[in-house]
Amino acid sequence: MLTHNLIDVAGGREGEDTAAPQAPTSNSEFARDLKHALAARPRSISPKYFYDAQGSALFDRICELPEYYPTRTELAILGGNAHEIAAHIGPNAQIVEFGAGSLRKVRLLLDAMKQPAGYVPIDISGEHMARSAAALQHDYPGLRVEPVIADYTQDFELPAPLAAGRRVGFFPGSTIGNFTPQEALHFLGRAARLLRGGALLLGADLIKDPAVLHAAYNDAQGVTAAFNLNLLARANRELGTRFLLEQFSHSAFYNAPQQRIEMHLVSRCAQSVVLQGEIFEFEEGETLHTENSCKFTTQGLRRLAARAGFRPGPVWTDAERLFCVQWLHAPA
Ligand code: AVJ
Repeated sequence: MLTHNLIDVAGGREGEDTAAPQAPTSNSEFARDLKHALAARPRSISPKYFYDAQGSALFDRICELPEYYPTRTELAILGGNAHEIAAHIGPNAQIVEFGAGSLRKVRLLLDAMKQPAGYVPIDISGEHMARSAAALQHDYPGLRVEPVIADYTQDFELPAPLAAGRRVGFFPGSTIGNFTPQEALHFLGRAARLLRGGALLLGADLIKDPAVLHAAYNDAQGVTAAFNLNLLARANRELGTRFLLEQFSHSAFYNAPQQRIEMHLVSRCAQSVVLQGEIFEFEEGETLHTENSCKFTTQGLRRLAARAGFRPGPVWTDAERLFCVQWLHAPA
């Protein structure tokens, strides 16, 4: 392994009379995390890097796939119980969504709510959020739409809710499944404090027949494979690597003891890749772990939420019990 302070490709000009410091691409978070991932054993990287513009578009296509039941099931649960959920939310509430989110989902809530007062999407991508916020503002002129650019796993400030209404968090899509159980507990603890006196509406994918899970992450059209491989395509676009995508294969399987789907990129041959002047080797069959998608039982999630300080309330689910939406009260 080469040393860390090695000059990168762009910076390979020592001794040259350069007034300005070298291009800072090596400082980008993606470059840094990918380097760490490629140097580590086992190799793993955060799934947040899936979501550049192309990855987000691929994810939208995943949500429409016949095999990918979570999105459509959660929409049906929210739509079918919107009035009951809205009654729990109460009048004049501020909805805080973790992630800029699917506007389709929050619209189901807003449409059923009595005088929704505010919508606060929290996301690290200001661009994606600005578009979502503008679209929502257009359709709900009376709603205070106040996006917050932040990493919702860290501390951040929220605009105040109306005195007349509560603050209700919304975390749909089973995004909580991307966290380790420890991280999920930590996130929920933070959310319970942030939402004090209000509640969290949490959507989560349930443990089920592994064959159903397997199909959802190994779709026939190969969209999930393209989504997974986009991690390497993105590195090629943004970091100048030359990953040969055809030399990696998509692997997704249910890890039953850990109760999660794991996604990996498997090297199909011995190969190496250069990232900012450093060479990284793959043996045939070695993998880069790109995502965990944890699955839950309703009871297990309630217990986790209770440990984090919530008082678990009603649970809405579908007839096949594929997915659940839980109301978690955050004591004042
Ligand atoms: C957005 C994290 C909920 O885990 O099902 C879909 C992402 N990965 N197909 C999920 C995903 C592969 C999705 N989450």
